Amino acid sequence: MKRLAVPFLVILALVLTACGSSSSPSATSAPAATKAPAATAAAGSAAAQSGSATAPAASAASGSGAPVALTGQPIPIGLAIATTSNVALLGEEEKNGGLLAEKFFNDRGGVNGRPIKVVLQDTGGDEQGAINAYQSLISKDKVVGIVGPTLSQQAFAADPTADKAKVPVIGPSNTAKGIAQIGPFVTRVSAPVAIVAPNAVKQALKLDPNIKKVAVFFAQNDAFSVSETDTFQSTAKDMKLDVTTVQKFQTTDTDFQTQVTNALATKPDLAIVSGLAADGGNLVKQLRELGFKGIIIGGNGLNTANIFPVCKAQCDGILVAQAYSPALKSDINTAFKQVYTDQFKKDPPQFAAQTFTGIQVFVDALKSLDNKSKIANMSIDDLRVALNTEVHAGKYATPLGDISFDQDHDLIQKDFYVAQIKMNPDGVTGTFVFLS
Ligand code: ALA
Repeated sequence: MKRLAVPFLVILALVLTACGSSSSPSATSAPAATKAPAATAAAGSAAAQSGSATAPAASAASGSGAPVALTGQPIPIGLAIATTSNVALLGEEEKNGGLLAEKFFNDRGGVNGRPIKVVLQDTGGDEQGAINAYQSLISKDKVVGIVGPTLSQQAFAADPTADKAKVPVIGPSNTAKGIAQIGPFVTRVSAPVAIVAPNAVKQALKLDPNIKKVAVFFAQNDAFSVSETDTFQSTAKDMKLDVTTVQKFQTTDTDFQTQVTNALATKPDLAIVSGLAADGGNLVKQLRELGFKGIIIGGNGLNTANIFPVCKAQCDGILVAQAYSPALKSDINTAFKQVYTDQFKKDPPQFAAQTFTGIQVFVDALKSLDNKSKIANMSIDDLRVALNTEVHAGKYATPLGDISFDQDHDLIQKDFYVAQIKMNPDGVTGTFVFLS
């Protein structure tokens, strides 16, 4: 009986995992990707083109060691992001950028004539949702790689699943320290907080050179916020500012009276908030309501117009460092910005640009790999491994500027900016105005 117990538990766990993934919210969002009209149209023509050239692969459709079944079908690239929960305030922009990339690159010939298909899986806002989405994309959809997840907190939980399965992952905006170190199959197109965040503090001092005292707030249950506050605090100290208080909260909190009251008692000139969009937006609102008049810096979790309905008129003036500017002059950014504004009637935000870039890196790497060795003749396992190497070795002209990866396969990016939120008189709509 004892000897049976372990295998039984393993089987039970597998069954439960399988049940969990099929009933996860991600399952319901899959049709969104298949519905994307452009994908189907582009898929039709490009698949027809590639059908004859890749005939040998057609008969070997299944089994992880078999040649990849791409003939007549688009190349599946996973997009595992949050389209439900509060984290969707960030994930929705990633969805817009990722799905737009599918049409964009298919309209330009896909991967040497073969279209891609972006397979969207909702991760929800937690770690298990991200693991479920990854498992489904890897085993069911047989994606060649995954762009995701939305949060670093989710990446630390889910990326090891992909790494173990030897499936390349590109984090769209996983800015915490240590993401690329999760494993050899994990990289990101997200400039880490250590590089981006100090720019916001420098900009705050430009706007108000009299800043001396800083109150810092961070979400202690979120890996990225913990990492970001570290950078903000050491930047403040390096710049000889006095960090008068460090206040902690949870991303699920809605009431910040205690933290704000404690902080205001130290009479800060500057407040720095590292959290996610809903909690961060509410904290900013309560800082203003309780009388804080100084500059507020929001971290990367507040880098979305989706905080406008949360802090409303009180969002006005927040400084947020940026890893993307719609104003960057390059062919790819001009083209990306054009299609984005045509569809969404506003400039692309950072999360959308980064997710678009994640898909682009896979497309560019697939093309160069295919030029060296026909991907249609590879097994899915071999293709994933070769694609990972190709991704890390390449140089890419993207909407984020020219990017590549270092020897630890972490991002090398040159262009950074700072924007300030300007709310319109209606107190509901607003824009990010780029200051540098
Ligand atoms: N940049 C945020 C993170 O890494 C969204 O979690």
